[in-house]
Amino acid sequence: MPLRIDILTTFPEMFGEGSPAALGVSIPARARGAGLVEWHATDIRAYTTNKHQKTDDRPFGGGPGMVMMCQPVWDAVHAVEAMDTRSATRVLLTPQGRPLTQEVVESLAARPRLLLIAGHYEGIDERVIQKLEPLEISIGDYVLSGGELAAMVLMDAVIRLLPGALGDEDSCKSDSFSSVTIPPATKRGVATQRRLLDCPHYTKPREWMGMEVPEVLLSGDHARVAAWRLERMIERTRERRPDLLGEASSGGSKPDPGSPRGAAEGD
Ligand code: 6GU
Repeated sequence: MPLRIDILTTFPEMFGEGSPAALGVSIPARARGAGLVEWHATDIRAYTTNKHQKTDDRPFGGGPGMVMMCQPVWDAVHAVEAMDTRSATRVLLTPQGRPLTQEVVESLAARPRLLLIAGHYEGIDERVIQKLEPLEISIGDYVLSGGELAAMVLMDAVIRLLPGALGDEDSCKSDSFSSVTIPPATKRGVATQRRLLDCPHYTKPREWMGMEVPEVLLSGDHARVAAWRLERMIERTRERRPDLLGEASSGGSKPDPGSPRGAAEGD
């Protein structure tokens, strides 16, 4: 049975049923075509009961922006949940949520049904969040205009993990952030599991602008290639994301976020 994803939004056209939308190409489109996943965007506005079909109102206490009202969100969630007998994992996309990591993505990809709620405006009335008890998820420490793009990011990350979604089933095992086994450094050490950044990749031609492909990759020695790749993964992770290794960053000044990869000076 395909994974069923429902999206509750006031901008259902962003998920373009069969039109050139973000998920209408590449792996998500193929997975949908192959019957691995289906998704349905539902307009929260269709569940308003007020005569102007308003989904939001001004915040109590004053201040800028608008707040999404409880009733349309509550009714839309229950109407959409009744469209299928399987119980849905409720997810609210919000900058106040828990960070989306590959671990969270893996856990969501194992559920039969997801219900994604894309908030807009200043947010959603806290009381309906308390009653619905969704997982609250953020895709990073920056602010988007609404949860829709975040929902699409989550969907893409989940869909590519569904069995059969990738041409090569093993290709997601070497993704950045996938858990890899690091062999012990010494004979008496123990292997550890870590989520690492990916290694660099190369293809034809063997020489480009005077730059050679690392010799080991041309050697045909699969064990040497695998060892070289793991070393590069660890090296990159140590340089760029020491937090993933449980190490403090190498100290010194804070990286300049505007420089390539936020690299610190002298890097
Ligand atoms: Cl999930 N929503 C919005 N509006 N902004 C975000 C986000 C989500 N994650 C990061 N920024």
